[in-house]
Amino acid sequence: MDNLDALKSEISDQVAAAADLDALEQARIAALGKKGRITEMMKGLGQMSPDERKTAGQALNALKSDINAAIEARKSELEGADIDARLAAERIDVTLPARPESTGAVHPISQTVEEVISIFGEMGFSVAEGPDMEEDWYNFTALNIPPDHPARQEHDTFYVNAEKDGQRMVLRTHTSPVQIRTMQVQKPPIRIIVPGRTYRCDHDATHSPMFHQVEGLLIDETTHMGHLKGCLNDFCRAFFGLGELPVRFRPSYFPFTEPSAEVDIGCSFEGGTLKIGDGDDWLEILGSGMVNPLVLENCGIDSTKYQGFAFGMGIERLAMLKYGIPDLRTFFDSDLRWLRHYGFASLDVPSLVGRASPTRNSP
Ligand code: DAH
Repeated sequence: MDNLDALKSEISDQVAAAADLDALEQARIAALGKKGRITEMMKGLGQMSPDERKTAGQALNALKSDINAAIEARKSELEGADIDARLAAERIDVTLPARPESTGAVHPISQTVEEVISIFGEMGFSVAEGPDMEEDWYNFTALNIPPDHPARQEHDTFYVNAEKDGQRMVLRTHTSPVQIRTMQVQKPPIRIIVPGRTYRCDHDATHSPMFHQVEGLLIDETTHMGHLKGCLNDFCRAFFGLGELPVRFRPSYFPFTEPSAEVDIGCSFEGGTLKIGDGDDWLEILGSGMVNPLVLENCGIDSTKYQGFAFGMGIERLAMLKYGIPDLRTFFDSDLRWLRHYGFASLDVPSLVGRASPTRNSP
């Protein structure tokens, strides 16, 4: 009991010298554990006289609390060092330049389809779909193209080695069969557009065996040719973003419309470059007409009560004209340089009331 000061400095030295939390715990056990040196001395208090015990007890308690305090202090020192070491080891250098990340682009076909949907969407049309592999009846016969009709020869059809209910199957040559499918299941008023893939056995700078069309169909009791003209006029001007774009309706023939008209937009070819909206030339962009009463009757719609118009256009052709893409085959080459050049940063669509043109991915 005489030498508590020496003991205190000895234990304090051990605590201070503990190099890590394990060593510190060992030092604590040696002093304050069940058989620790201070604990053993505490046990000796019982044999002392009351006076001695009082003095020695106070001294030992003071020693014990000093040592506990020293242990706590060393512990937080060691823990702090631990955190500092981890911080140093896990340090991230935020000044390093970011790794390059390649971003995708919206394909001009997707962009153009979205643009067309958005413009007709504003006019109240909704999107309808049908199968790519189609029954002969839907692709031709119901559209007033019977088996011996010359229009069949013009379609360069891919026939498929399959039959359904005795019907020869084809890869649809246009999106028009979806008119039939819609009119069979939906009562007028009908107002749909049909974007989708179409197929013809043809391959050159302006044709590809697979391409895209958008079909339009509007049926009700009162819609007439004036509405057809107004609707397609507005569409052409919104799509090309030219409020003054000249639009011409030229008499034509389609078996499924009567009368029929092809739609041309004004342009010039001066110096070999096409400029849309300028000059005295015309460029055909779509086919249209008043739905042939025979087609309505083929779908079970009373042609004495209902009437309306239809139209169809090629998506690639629209995209080529609007975005200056010279060769149709390149749409499907999957050449990344082409996609980066002609792709779009994000889907951004024009509107009937004239919103900004979409952003090209590269200038
Ligand atoms: N189906 C026609 C084609 O592929 C395009 C077309 C013309 C669709 C006139 C129509 C229409 O709905 O009325 O060439």
